[in-house]
Amino acid sequence: MSAESDPVSARHFEYIAERTTAEDAFLRELKVEAKRAGIPAIWISPEQASLMQILLRLGGCRDVIEVGTLAGYSAIAMARALPADGTLRTIELDPEHAAFTRDQVARSDVAGRVTVHEGPGLDVLPGFADDSADAAFLDADKSNYPGYLEHSLRIVRAGGLIMVDNAFAFGQLFDEQPTDPEVGAVRAFNDAVAADARLTAIIVPIGDGLWVGVKN
Ligand code: DHB
Ligand code: MG
Repeated sequence: MSAESDPVSARHFEYIAERTTAEDAFLRELKVEAKRAGIPAIWISPEQASLMQILLRLGGCRDVIEVGTLAGYSAIAMARALPADGTLRTIELDPEHAAFTRDQVARSDVAGRVTVHEGPGLDVLPGFADDSADAAFLDADKSNYPGYLEHSLRIVRAGGLIMVDNAFAFGQLFDEQPTDPEVGAVRAFNDAVAADARLTAIIVPIGDGLWVGVKN
């Protein structure tokens, strides 16, 4: 063998995507309707959804919290990995996005499993009890990630799962002059997580970079 392994390339990611459980008709249609409703076309990739579902199932997760619902794609995907009596609490700032998601959830196979809480994450999270979740997924405004993480470390039980989206800062992580104003916040958050002894965490290079951590 001439090398330990090949560096991961765009071709590898294509290869992975082509071999990942395909997204079903419901989630495909959700994207179409979200665009029609004028909701920003932002969602996790199908391969990221598969990985998150696998992790939730391996962790025996029943109760999940999410910050940043948008169109409800990830909420519905995650809820599908929970047992029938599982619960997913998702927090959304925008009332129109929250209403869209409630409507989608009501028509989905996980109706009754997902509750959309409306408001700023930092206002809603204090109402969630300590140790009341097995997993968290953070995916809202990046400048408030540190606050969302503090609440998640309180709400998620020891040994629970904490996942955070966009560690690669919308593909601009290494840009010298990034155009997105949140890139700096993502970089600072990544460095803080790397130094945080309360978590055992790694950035999985899937989607836009997914932090996967276990609460120690
Ligand atoms: C974008 C993507 C995301 O996953 C997100 O959480 C926020 C913004 C984007 O591509 O702009
Ligand atoms: Mg995201």
